Amino acid sequence: MGKDVIIACDFSSRQQTIDFLNKFKDKKPFVKIGMELFYAEGAEMVREIKQMGHKIFLDLKLCDIPNTVKKTMKVLSSLDIDMCNLHAFGTKAMMEAAIEGLTRPDGTRPLLIAVTQLTSTSEERMKTDLLINESLDKVVMHYAHNAMESGLDGVVCSPLEAGKVKSVCGESFLTVTPGVRFEGGDIGDQVRITTPAKAKELGSDYIVVGRPITAAENPVTAYERCVREFAE
Ligand code: C5P
Repeated sequence: MGKDVIIACDFSSRQQTIDFLNKFKDKKPFVKIGMELFYAEGAEMVREIKQMGHKIFLDLKLCDIPNTVKKTMKVLSSLDIDMCNLHAFGTKAMMEAAIEGLTRPDGTRPLLIAVTQLTSTSEERMKTDLLINESLDKVVMHYAHNAMESGLDGVVCSPLEAGKVKSVCGESFLTVTPGVRFEGGDIGDQVRITTPAKAKELGSDYIVVGRPITAAENPVTAYERCVREFAE
């Protein structure tokens, strides 16, 4: 599996999304569809983007009882997506059920990636709100290890954590990393950021890039710059 750039298509309508993707004539980028677009436009949007020739990371962060997650993953798998995710918080039983549901009759399945602790959760909030009295780093690595033991393919994490995740879970365990900005670019609401080149150096397998591409004057040029810095 080669390194790739995934564009976060954080749009809320089909038209905006299609207008954006139509700018890409040659190479069809790997795109991430999140809850906003999925809940607005539904599964038909996924089918349409797939038909346009894009790989799709469906970012719905499932977390429910194992049976519900298993049956939902079966539905997602039939949409012919390439990657999807869940919360490792749902336990190993839920993650194992998810793999079962995702696996097609021919044995193939989309990649399954775990969210450990959301980056919006601070160690203090984890302790006071969730009553988890461990360091954030220990919790993230423990959840990543659970995901690996349950047969998942990787985790979403910061590029700054990619090396440690791989040392705990193995080199082939994938790290999918948001929080990427060009040198000197607008940071927006991200806090811990790296450039595409730095993410490559730190061992990320996929970078998820939203606004540096979607809000760029020329999104195709910005995407090509990302690919040049990260994947070539
Ligand atoms: O626009 P930007 O590059 O900040 O977008 C990053 C994308 O990655 C968004 O879709 C955001 O929801 C997602 N993400 C993130 N941090 C996480 C998990 C997901 O920025 N920890």
